[in-house]
Amino acid sequence: MKRSSQIWLKELEAELASRHLLHHSFYEKWAEGALSRDALRGYTKEYCQLVDAIPALVRTVQTKAPTPEMVAGLGENLREEKEHPELWLRFGEALGLSRRDFLQHTPLPETTEAVSTLRRIVEDRSFVEGVAALWGFESQVPEVSEKKIEGLTTFYGITSPRGLEYFEVHRTIDQKHTAMEENILVSEARTPEDRKAVESAAKAARDAVWRLLDGVYRHHVLARQQLG
Ligand SMILES: [Fe+2]
Repeated sequence: MKRSSQIWLKELEAELASRHLLHHSFYEKWAEGALSRDALRGYTKEYCQLVDAIPALVRTVQTKAPTPEMVAGLGENLREEKEHPELWLRFGEALGLSRRDFLQHTPLPETTEAVSTLRRIVEDRSFVEGVAALWGFESQVPEVSEKKIEGLTTFYGITSPRGLEYFEVHRTIDQKHTAMEENILVSEARTPEDRKAVESAAKAARDAVWRLLDGVYRHHVLARQQLG
């Protein structure tokens, strides 16, 4: 990786972190142990929409990959992502949700908006922008997973390996995905215009996930506070 490219990526990562998902009020409350179990269950059904959407997002990006190495790298990412919806359902079960609860759930408008924003980025924009979108939120996932595990075990009584496996896996797997994505960003985003497009796609993806959390917070924390 060339030094100037490394600096550019590091700067972009720092910029993304200025609105790190861990700073979202919902995740702050999670870390403080201030969420009700109902709020956690509500979140779990919303975020499931994103977990379910990720394999198709990766697949769409993969279809635009210009080299066999990139196709293979994204293929491995895709195989792994396909296993994650099952792990998410197991987390839901640890919170007392049945598989039927997930099937019968109607997502909040913010969740639908978030998922369709991510779909639009990978479908309508270039390969490198699609990779940037995946990177935009995956780069924050290991740290977020770590915090979630801490909260779940300390405050919410979720301690079984089966219930925590989704987060245990994401503590490390997205470090690998992120490293692969960074290699692609460095080799494919060559011009200032490319880099601008990468920055815009990465921020839009992070903001889409932030939007999903806004919906969860509005519906499962603020609305309940007003009722109480
Ligand atoms: Fe995943």
